[in-house]
Amino acid sequence: MRIDIITVLPEMLDGPINTSILKRAQDRGLVEFGVHNLRDYTLDKHNRVDDYPYGGEAGMVLQIEPIDRCISALKAKRDYDEVIFTTPDGEQFVQGTANELSLKQNIIILCGHYKGVDYRVREHLITREISIGDFVLTGGELAAAIIADAVVRIIPGVIGDEQSALSDSFQDNLLAPPVYSRPAEYKGWRVPDILLSGHERKIAEWKLDQSQERTKRLRPDLLK
Ligand code: ADE
Repeated sequence: MRIDIITVLPEMLDGPINTSILKRAQDRGLVEFGVHNLRDYTLDKHNRVDDYPYGGEAGMVLQIEPIDRCISALKAKRDYDEVIFTTPDGEQFVQGTANELSLKQNIIILCGHYKGVDYRVREHLITREISIGDFVLTGGELAAAIIADAVVRIIPGVIGDEQSALSDSFQDNLLAPPVYSRPAEYKGWRVPDILLSGHERKIAEWKLDQSQERTKRLRPDLLK
């Protein structure tokens, strides 16, 4: 899979995509990233990529021309399954979105910024608009990093034990059960006896029970 990210702040993506599991996934050839500075695609002699909005609103708007030039340059090299725009008024990003995107071959993520982008970008160049939640960030870079992280970690082979991605919270609309590690007792706080029993079937039943109880208590909306 290949993920191309278009941004005015490429340095914001450096940490998230070049650290830990996402870095290892790239080193192993399981995913390829391209980060593209929108300013490299402007024809403006001062490298500007934004301008005042028509109609006199406050704030600046990312212009269509550099975005179109960047997307066209990428599309000249390969076909893309999706051109995603990160924006608080997009569809809500959930585990199902990550699962779906992880099956794609090539995707572009355009990071929104400032007041927004020229709406013609959204009308003509974008195939999907995604929000990571009902709050407003300073820009779409962190949203793009979150989408990339959630998508890449479920590509087969990226996480050592594939089971561990499948048993995540949300994969079956249930929160994950609690996990514990050594020591079995710390300051008098004990790991549940059942987990030390070695009884596989009972342990599996306990985990499911815990998942259901935690979901009912903490996220009843997931059970609807
Ligand atoms: N850009 C600013 N806020 C955002 C959000 N909540 N989701 C996606 N992109 C954003």
